[in-house]
Amino acid sequence: MKNDDVIELLSEIARFEDSVDMENDYRIGWGWRHVRIWPATLSRLFKDGYLDNVFRSNSHTGYRLSELGKSVLSAEITPPETRQELKPEISDTLFGDIIGHDGVKELLRAALLAEKPVHVLLTGPPALAKTLFLWDIERAGGEKAIWLVGSATSKAGLWDLVAGREPQILLIDEIDKMNAADTAALLTMMEGGRLVRAKRGRELDINNPLRVIAASNRCEKLSPELRSRFAIRKLDPYGRAEFLTVVRGVLVRSEGLDQELAGEIARRLDGLTQNVRDAIRVARLAPQLGVEKAIALLIGSG
Ligand SMILES: Nc1ncnc2c1ncn2[C@@H]1O[C@H](COP(=O)(O)OP(=O)(O)O)[C@@H](O)[C@H]1O
Ligand SMILES: [Mg+2]
Repeated sequence: MKNDDVIELLSEIARFEDSVDMENDYRIGWGWRHVRIWPATLSRLFKDGYLDNVFRSNSHTGYRLSELGKSVLSAEITPPETRQELKPEISDTLFGDIIGHDGVKELLRAALLAEKPVHVLLTGPPALAKTLFLWDIERAGGEKAIWLVGSATSKAGLWDLVAGREPQILLIDEIDKMNAADTAALLTMMEGGRLVRAKRGRELDINNPLRVIAASNRCEKLSPELRSRFAIRKLDPYGRAEFLTVVRGVLVRSEGLDQELAGEIARRLDGLTQNVRDAIRVARLAPQLGVEKAIALLIGSG
């Protein structure tokens, strides 16, 4: 919640408390209907310490402004942002290890910085750095991001994971392999909806808009309702010139090859493959086999 929102809500509550006799008529606190603020918002304010919970039964949760809430209003304290902003981490150096893909970088930065969530699904053939994009966002997001792979969603289930850790960004690789229950939960979360799990009665905080960035080699298998919640960005296979640049970059930076050897591998693979992973395999076998032999054995050309 933003500072201004917190102050506005607290002022409204203070106006209500001033207008009634709190000591006599509201000894068990006021409820959400009195102040006309949604229960979920109140419970957020309570969690953050601005409200005291003076009474709780099945039919009534009674609150009153806490000392902290009052001091925020009397401007003694500025409320800390209850959620850290993402912005500082979404810097120009984000995606620094990814070569090219300028449009995708720009789109993802904008989507992560937008005031309200825009979910993005990266799709396209393998070895185009889709997973790398998710990794970079995870690294930048730190605590605020959760990474998961569709085929290996945790036993606890997506809903409990998100309700428990309240991430701001959900990164889902291989989303096409996600199970039905998690997919259903995801559909609700992506719209900022609330869902109460019957078993645990756990609600997702609606003040926490979740951004989903996902990747998948193909998206035809995804349900239309899931697809429609995403901005689907298709990554095109590398052209020849791009392939050379990417391979050289990856081999030098990630595989520790010198420029010369990286260049040689890139040149020799030109026209044989579009797959960066082939180049990585060649680089790894080259010390034993030599570049030419490694290519011949791996790609079967000669
Ligand atoms: N544009 C790129 N910049 C940097 N590395 C790349 C690029 N394209 C591919 N790679 C490398 O290729 C490999 C496969 O990338 P990955 O992100 O796993 O692809 P995908 O998820 O699209 O199949 C990784 O080692 C990655 O570092
Ligand atoms: Mg991948």
